[in-house]
Amino acid sequence: MTTDSPEQLLVEGLQELYYTEQQLVDALQNLADETSEENAKQAFSQHRDETREQIDRLEQVFERIGEQPQTREERVVDSLIDEHEQFAQENEGEVLDRYNIATGQKTEHYEIAAYGNLTSLAGKLGYDEASDLLEKTLREEEHALDELSQAGEQFDEQRVAGD
Ligand SMILES: [Fe+2]
Repeated sequence: MTTDSPEQLLVEGLQELYYTEQQLVDALQNLADETSEENAKQAFSQHRDETREQIDRLEQVFERIGEQPQTREERVVDSLIDEHEQFAQENEGEVLDRYNIATGQKTEHYEIAAYGNLTSLAGKLGYDEASDLLEKTLREEEHALDELSQAGEQFDEQRVAGD
């Protein structure tokens, strides 16, 4: 099926994020459960709760643009989750902690790109309220990335440097 208008691009992008966020609630729970490093563990749990709110917010966005909330399979998040599951089966301890932080960061970078584009596109198409809602989530994703980046740097300073 071709995507024949910016409007449709917006709808499909929202559907992919609606799918992504739903996969991420469980994924973030798993990350929190298996990570021992306290800052990262906390960042994962906190962002799991935030992700539940982001799903509700996406439903509001669909409503503002006059569409029913619907998911659309997104292979980026599926791949990130598959890769992580495989690594977690074969590794543990500090290595898994550090890997999990990086996985979280990759996910946030992806979401920031997706929300950033849709915030702009929704605004240009005249959906100001939808754009504001998307921007709110964008800021949360940026904040989550900051927390994880700090946890990663701290981890490297304390446990990797000077070994
Ligand atoms: Fe998110």
